[in-house]
Amino acid sequence: MEIVVSGVRPTGNQHFGNYMGAIRNFVKFQDEFDIPCYFFVADYHSLTTHPKPEDLQNNVRQILIEYLACGLDPKKSNIYIQSHVPEIPELYLIFNMLAYKGELERSVTFKDKVRSQPENINAGLLTYPVLMAVDIIVHKATQVPVGKDQEQHLEMTRTFARRFNNAYKVEYFPEPQPVSLGDKLVKVPGLDGKGKMSKSESENSAIFLVDDEKKLRKKVMRAVTDAGPKEKNQAMPEEIQNLFQLLELVADGETIQQFKSAYADCTIRYGDLKGAIAENMEKTIKPIRERIHELEADDKLLKEIMHEGATSARKSASATLKDVKEIIGLR
Ligand code: ADP
Ligand code: TRP
Repeated sequence: MEIVVSGVRPTGNQHFGNYMGAIRNFVKFQDEFDIPCYFFVADYHSLTTHPKPEDLQNNVRQILIEYLACGLDPKKSNIYIQSHVPEIPELYLIFNMLAYKGELERSVTFKDKVRSQPENINAGLLTYPVLMAVDIIVHKATQVPVGKDQEQHLEMTRTFARRFNNAYKVEYFPEPQPVSLGDKLVKVPGLDGKGKMSKSESENSAIFLVDDEKKLRKKVMRAVTDAGPKEKNQAMPEEIQNLFQLLELVADGETIQQFKSAYADCTIRYGDLKGAIAENMEKTIKPIRERIHELEADDKLLKEIMHEGATSARKSASATLKDVKEIIGLR
C-alpha cells in the first residue's frame, strides 16, 4: 500500500518557490490519488538553530495557515505539528542506536552546516537525518514529495529502514522514495539574477505568498535584467533566462511565445515582460493570499485542525511504535 509523508520546517513565510516546488505537489498528491497522506510542520527540526520561542510559535502557525491556504484539506490529508506526536521522538531515540557517526558526518547538509555555522554544530544537527527518517517511517510511508536537495536524506532513510529490517530479520519498514508529480523537479529562480528563490537570500529576491499585489509588482519590476538583446536570436544571460522561467510557470502559451519572439527579434521591452510576470503571478497568488488572511483570524479552526491532525497521526505512529518495541524486545 502506498503512503505519502512530507513536511516543511517552520523557518518563516513560504515563498513562491516553496509553493511551486513543494506544497503544490502535496496538494496534487492529496487530490489526485486515493492514498493516505500525512503533511506536517517540522517544528522539532527547526530547533537546531535555537529560534526565539515566540518566533517559533508564529512560524508554526504560519506554515499551518499556508498549507491550508494552498489547498491542503484536513478532510483528505492528515495535517499535524510534529511535536504534537510524542511517538516520533520516542522512535527517534530507538533509531539513533542504528545510525553511525561516520555516515551522519558524511551527509551533505551536515557538512554544509559545519562550514556555514561552525559555532553551532550540535548533536541534533548531526542526527537530523535520523529524525527525518523517523518522520517518514513512523507512518510506514512509501513516497515522499520533496525537492532535489532532500534526495540524500531519503537515501539515508532507506538505509536506516533496511538496517532495522536486517538487524531484526523482519520485513517491516518499506523503503521510501522521493517523488515529484510533474515530469521534473521544479526549481524556481530568484529575482536577483542568480540562483534559486530562497528565504535566506535578500528579501527582494523572493515573492512571499503573503506579499500584497503592490509589493509583488514592485519586487518583480525591480528584478535584475541586462541592457537587452543586441543581435537577433542572441543567447539569454542567466538573469533573463530566470525571468522567462518565471513567466513559464505562470503565463499561458501564447503570452510566453509572444515574449520569446520579441526577445529573438530584439523588440522586447523588459518592463512589459516583468509586467506580464507580475500580473500572472498575482493571479496565482491572490486566492492563496486571501485565504491566508481569512485563516489568520480563525484561531478556533486552526486549533481544531491541529487537534484532529495530531489524533490521526498519533494513531498511525503509535501502531508503528508498538510493533517496533515488540520486534526489538521492549515488551
Ligand atoms: P528555503 O531555501 O527558501 O529556505 P527550504 O529549504 O525551507 O526553502 O525548502 C522547503 C521546500 O521548498 C523544500 O521541499 C524545497 O525543495 C522547496 N523549495 C525551496 N526553494 C525552492 C525553489 N526556489 N524552487 C523550487 N522548490 C523550492
Ligand atoms: N528536511 C526537510 C527540509 O529541510 C524537512 C523535513 C523534515 C521533511 N522531515 C521531513 C521532509 C520528512 C519530508 C519528510 O525541507
